[in-house]
Amino acid sequence: MRVLFIGGTGIISSACSELALQRGIELYLLNRGGSYRQPATGAKLLHADIRQRASVQAALGNLTFDAVVDWVAFTPEHVQDDVALFGGRTGQYVFISSASAYQTPPHYLPVTESTPLHNPFWQYSRDKAACEARLAEAYRQGGFPATVVRPSHTYDPTLLPFHGGYTNVARMRAGKKVVVHGDGTSLWTLTHHRDFAVGLVGLLGNPHAVGETFHITSDEWLSWNQIYEIVARAAGVEPRLVHVPSDLIAAFDLEWGASLLGDKAHSMVFDNSKIRRLVPEFQARIPFWQGAREIIAWYDADPARQVVEPYFDALQDRIISAMEGAYPSE
Ligand SMILES: NC(=O)c1ccc[n+]([C@@H]2O[C@H](COP(=O)([O-])OP(=O)(O)OC[C@H]3O[C@@H](n4cnc5c(N)ncnc54)[C@H](OP(=O)(O)O)[C@@H]3O)[C@@H](O)[C@H]2O)c1
Repeated sequence: MRVLFIGGTGIISSACSELALQRGIELYLLNRGGSYRQPATGAKLLHADIRQRASVQAALGNLTFDAVVDWVAFTPEHVQDDVALFGGRTGQYVFISSASAYQTPPHYLPVTESTPLHNPFWQYSRDKAACEARLAEAYRQGGFPATVVRPSHTYDPTLLPFHGGYTNVARMRAGKKVVVHGDGTSLWTLTHHRDFAVGLVGLLGNPHAVGETFHITSDEWLSWNQIYEIVARAAGVEPRLVHVPSDLIAAFDLEWGASLLGDKAHSMVFDNSKIRRLVPEFQARIPFWQGAREIIAWYDADPARQVVEPYFDALQDRIISAMEGAYPSE
């Protein structure tokens, strides 16, 4: 099989590139060559900016593909350009959408692929939903061979799962308290990129996947208290958690608040039976306590990665002091 990834050196796509090559796929990566992640060994590299269509045409020449995966399409215009570029040139086109496009908050759990797409909080999610609608139209009207994949929160060793990244780890290691939204008991799903790759690569060239939509996630359901505790223990400490309502966090910081109220404040767990029906080998095998050890090892390997953001550090202190001030002192 010959496959093109637009991207391919990203957080999720890097593991998919590795696995595709291990499976003997002839893999082309089209990107700008700017990522600090080395492209997977054996991939054929095409350097172009996907938004510069003339340079993309020149890089692709007359190549045709069994499958094309666009990792960096975010608006209906991006998808429309892809339909024009790859119609007749690929047996399958995979659009990487986002599980954040699902109804937020969800009316019932677990989320399945037929859960409606309705996230009034996040433009990014609405744009992904609009991309999906455009592709459904292209499939219905012209047989464009689209498959939609909706990743949920998917990490590699560089990605800490909470807002503020390494600053939280530095605080926990210094014995300082960290803010956890709500009462820390809402449920969340974290998927390791190597697990995700088994599902994604299993869809490539799979005739049953054309015209269909999938999410690909772990079946491990974690509370946010557990997520902070697991990261803290991987970092060798016990955390001191302060629970703060998401609305109050939003009053202090709009961006952090939006990432909670439009996404992480709501329990999100998924039914993965559809991907398992088409890709029977898919089974998420890396629990977060193992993934967290990989993350901490990556940060510990180079002090330059241990960036503490002074704004976020001070913001946590301000929120914690407001929260603690709201309780009667002893
Ligand atoms: N991670 C998550 O939790 C999550 C959840 C839901 C959905 N998603 C979706 O997953 C996709 C991101 O996948 P990822 O995490 O693997 O990607 P990523 O880490 O954002 O990396 C982006 C990749 O695309 C390339 N790229 C960026 N802009 C480009 C351009 N203009 N032209 C050509 N190549 C370009 C980058 O290489 P160069 O910089 O060298 O060009 C790199 O290979 C997005 O569609 C996102 O919406 C992610």
